[in-house]
Amino acid sequence: MKKTILITGASSGFGLMLANKLHREGFTVIGTSRSPEKYLEKVPFKLLRLDLDDENSVESFTRELFAYTKQLDVLINNAGYMVTGIAEETPVEVGRRQFETNFWGTVRVTNALLPHFRRQKRGQIITVSSIVGLIGPPNLSYYTASKHAVEGYFKSLRFELDQFNIKVNMVEPVWFKTNLGENAVSPDGHHIPDYDAYRSRVRAVTQKGIDEAESPDAVVSTIMRLIQTKEPKFSNPVGKMTGMILFLQSYAPKMFEGSILKSVKTAK
Ligand SMILES: NC(=O)c1ccc[n+]([C@@H]2O[C@H](COP(=O)([O-])OP(=O)(O)OC[C@H]3O[C@@H](n4cnc5c(N)ncnc54)[C@H](OP(=O)(O)O)[C@@H]3O)[C@@H](O)[C@H]2O)c1
Repeated sequence: MKKTILITGASSGFGLMLANKLHREGFTVIGTSRSPEKYLEKVPFKLLRLDLDDENSVESFTRELFAYTKQLDVLINNAGYMVTGIAEETPVEVGRRQFETNFWGTVRVTNALLPHFRRQKRGQIITVSSIVGLIGPPNLSYYTASKHAVEGYFKSLRFELDQFNIKVNMVEPVWFKTNLGENAVSPDGHHIPDYDAYRSRVRAVTQKGIDEAESPDAVVSTIMRLIQTKEPKFSNPVGKMTGMILFLQSYAPKMFEGSILKSVKTAK
């Protein structure tokens, strides 16, 4: 029997593309959105309401999910958003909200579904982290921190779940064309004039990443492969240059840091 797969954040970007692809290939797909009523007519798969930030929403979602299906094989933690901006200018509350969704929200959903996976002594949890869960570019400090937190959490959790035959895998994309840039939050915190010149250059670098992003196909096919592989790797960076970026960070850290500093220094 084909697997039943739950994808959080299936109204847009990676989640939507992946849900459509899995549905076409005969998997049973359940997606989530904070506003499913906006998308119900447009998608061919089941879409349930879920707000990662809200404990009550996670509880009612879990009830609705298991009323709809008794079978669940794979959880794909995909929902999330990005806070951009100079760290010192960003109010801590904005950073806290970033963690509420990207880290705590992901933990909430995982915890809600773990009893099911433990009972059936089988399952898979795939989490869409980011290359910034492995490296730290400027202008993205809270987003980077939230993705490092997610990486650390699952790095540890996977050992606890091994005994229940529950696989844990991470996907770490670079820049891909989705609505992430459009939905990004860049707060007008307290403006510090010392950063004026730097701010505009570093924004240009972030914008260049968004503008030159790749099509999301590679992320979709990486996740498809993880679902269909017997013993998939824990960490799965995706996108042009990921191998080079991670190699330089580990083996030529000075060159790695120098190239980031230079890219901002020379940005227009
Ligand atoms: N695009 C990239 O270049 C890139 C690179 C690395 C990692 N990522 C990661 O990939 C994942 C998917 O992002 P995307 O690029 O596909 O962006 P996207 O097009 O903006 O999609 C984000 C999805 O997350 C959902 N979402 C956002 N906040 C939520 C919340 N509080 N509760 C529940 N759902 C929420 C949205 O659903 P509703 O608005 O309908 O609720 C939407 O379906 C994110 O975790 C992102 O950090 C993206």
